[in-house]
Amino acid sequence: MEQNKGPAHRVRNRAMFNAIARRYDLLNHVLSIGIDRYWRCRAMAVVKAMGGGTALDLATGTADLALGLARLPGWRVIGVDPARAMLDLGRTKVAAAQLQAAVELLVAEAEGLPFASASFDLVTAAFGVRNFTDLPRALGEARRVLRPTGRLLVLEFSEPAAPVFRSIYRWYFGAVLPRVGGWVSGQREAYAYLPRSVAGFPSGAAFLGCLRSAGFVDATATRLTLGVCTLYSARR
Ligand SMILES: C[S@@+](CC[C@H](N)C(=O)[O-])C[C@H]1O[C@@H](n2cnc3c(N)ncnc32)[C@H](O)[C@@H]1O
Repeated sequence: MEQNKGPAHRVRNRAMFNAIARRYDLLNHVLSIGIDRYWRCRAMAVVKAMGGGTALDLATGTADLALGLARLPGWRVIGVDPARAMLDLGRTKVAAAQLQAAVELLVAEAEGLPFASASFDLVTAAFGVRNFTDLPRALGEARRVLRPTGRLLVLEFSEPAAPVFRSIYRWYFGAVLPRVGGWVSGQREAYAYLPRSVAGFPSGAAFLGCLRSAGFVDATATRLTLGVCTLYSARR
């Protein structure tokens, strides 16, 4: 995978997420048959064991993970994302949940975080890192803003290892998902980008290598749902 996808990717990506924002949550839950909720719960189970603190949710989108974290006792969450339309929907959800005191959503990119060093106990990113323009820089920024005892948790799609299941998965991701996603959102390219971006992402051992190169320690990868998704954990 290219380490820095460049300014054109950055602009295209922001426009794409702004364009699909209105249908994003619906399609997320429909296309994953609701399993995306379980994947975020698996990340939250790790956080629950950490006690409370201050969390930064990168690529927060419509704030599903930020809201989940804010519901855990003792957590205050800042979510950042470059796509304003995604954040606007997130703000509506935060207000509906009456969690404005616990969740703040800001426009920012993972590659340039507007926060002082060592200000968070936890940095999370759900289905965001594969979209970053410059992955090493974003991981460097995540590490910079973490306190010395801080933890990084990343959820990201990955390809299943079992050959038969992988074939079914590729057919679903490559043929069904772009069609249904395009039909519901009116943005077929955005849902054709999804399988492409997953195939191009350095998952598993390769992503653990990226984490270590960025200076993280104790990096682990837990495959979920036969490897369709992986939960990565690392310490600063
Ligand atoms: C697939 S969505 C995930 C949203 C949310 N975390 C979730 O679990 O539903 C990917 C998000 O990454 C955001 N994104 C893309 N490039 C980014 C960057 N460089 N820094 C931070 N977020 C970025 C997009 O705007 C989009 O909201």
